[in-house]
Amino acid sequence: MGVLQLATLLSELPRERTRLLDNLGRVRRDVGPITPELSDAIADHMSIRRGEVHEVVSFYSFLQLPVDVVRVCTGPVCDCLGGRDLLAREPGAVEVACLGHCDLAPVLTRGDEIVPAVTHATNDGPAIGLGQRDETIDDYAARGGLELLREPPSAERIVSELKTAGLTGYGGAGFPAGLKWEAVAREPSPRYVVVNADEGEPGTIKDRYVMELRPHLLVEATLLAMRFAEAEEGYVYLREEYATARSRLETAIGEFRDAGLLDGRRLELVIGAGAYIAGEESALLESMEGRRAMPRLRPPFPAQVGYLGRPTLINNVETLAHIPAILENGGEWWAGLGTRGASGTRLWSVSGAVAHPGCYEAPNGITVRELVDGHAGGFAAEVGAVVPGGAASGILPPTALDAPLTRDGLAEYGAGVGSAAVQVFPATYSPLRLLAETMRFFAEESCQKCTPCRIGNRALHHVCVELERGEAAMRRDKVDEWLLAMEKTSICGLGQASPVPVRNAMRWWPELFAPLGG
Ligand SMILES: Cc1cc2nc3c(=O)[nH]c(=O)nc-3n(C[C@H](O)[C@H](O)[C@H](O)COP(=O)(O)O)c2cc1C
Ligand code: SF4
Repeated sequence: MGVLQLATLLSELPRERTRLLDNLGRVRRDVGPITPELSDAIADHMSIRRGEVHEVVSFYSFLQLPVDVVRVCTGPVCDCLGGRDLLAREPGAVEVACLGHCDLAPVLTRGDEIVPAVTHATNDGPAIGLGQRDETIDDYAARGGLELLREPPSAERIVSELKTAGLTGYGGAGFPAGLKWEAVAREPSPRYVVVNADEGEPGTIKDRYVMELRPHLLVEATLLAMRFAEAEEGYVYLREEYATARSRLETAIGEFRDAGLLDGRRLELVIGAGAYIAGEESALLESMEGRRAMPRLRPPFPAQVGYLGRPTLINNVETLAHIPAILENGGEWWAGLGTRGASGTRLWSVSGAVAHPGCYEAPNGITVRELVDGHAGGFAAEVGAVVPGGAASGILPPTALDAPLTRDGLAEYGAGVGSAAVQVFPATYSPLRLLAETMRFFAEESCQKCTPCRIGNRALHHVCVELERGEAAMRRDKVDEWLLAMEKTSICGLGQASPVPVRNAMRWWPELFAPLGG
């Protein structure tokens, strides 16, 4: 691109600080990777200090890479199934912590193209129904969609049905949805609605399934949330790697607009740039405001002080996607879909050593064995270890295959359900290697804001690598000190929960940690 064309492009870019990530993404797509010169030019155009824009550019992994770069996933499931061999065969490829396509592991992407092409295991389900793919808004309406927008229930009824359902947030933290909606409604307007579609937790693919197969369902649920919160503006913060989800959502939002269903409200996508921590809700808000995605100190919570300092309702894609079925059929109906005393269903991302990796809607309270045998075609190898719900949820031995996947069911294992990303590892894959890969992920993705997380994850990763070599410079009491310091003094869930897999592995495979001493 010539100097003149660049000047024209720059002059077209909006100047509000909230558009910084968008502008950087656009220049990257139209001109190329963000060089220091491009960064300065954008800073000058937007009247932001040059140093601040450099900080943002260097924080996000993708802004300095070409759009058609080859990315190879080396997340735990891909690592186990040959991701590193793939990386070695692709000169110039970039290693990525998780590409969100664990059902196709090992995964490589070339620009927006996924290799191999996505093959969805179809599966129905009473609340979200991934067995159907809505091509158009008419398909969605023909399957009973849009009724709630035509006759929205009252705010009181919405809160009461969500509470009766017992729906909890499916982004990983599990906060009750009814309480969050009620809390936002109590705050003064203007309010915002933000959909968390960053889905960066290794093993988690469920939100992508919702957005690719049933984008209209998510748009309707988001519009319901916006009407409920009387929000004029709503945003979907989407991870950059989800190209298909992006085009499906853009088309769906356009259809709602053409049908007059946006009601004059603004619903837009914000595209991320390769930072796992941006999925943490307060870091996500920082990112939307044009800064590095670093978590905020809480309280105040986003429901009180969120986007641009205003009360903000933030929900995960899947949490929202359950709400239309709850409002149509009643909270009691939805609660009754659960098993072993748990309420409702959720989407389980199942990957690794199973016959049919994929995303399955099944009751809360199900066990890994039931999920794999009943939905994912059975185990494909002798099981060595199971990760029940994403990197920070824990690493469990095969005896946990029969534990109900609930907070209580996993408590005795010292683990959690997290984002319900069930990853099954064969007995041939060492739990120590799994732990080392997990800690490498946390060390690389820590935003570096607080010391225990910044140094602790690196130190623990280093311990794992040494143990893999049969060495151990650090003693067990020092490891325990780090774990405690991280849990007690980190400011966000990343540093608070990354000790969980370490504690699990030390408990279930003590022989692997013997070199650390007592
Ligand atoms: C390190 C970290 C990463 C997170 N990543 C995501 C994510 O990718 N998607 C998501 O919905 N929630 C993620 N969360 C949870 C959010 O902070 C927040 O709890 C969630 O968006 C709230 O929506 P929910 O109540 O519907 O789950 C993450 C949390 C942490 C600590
Ligand atoms: S715990 Fe880690 S990721 Fe979270 S704010 Fe602190 S340094 Fe950043």
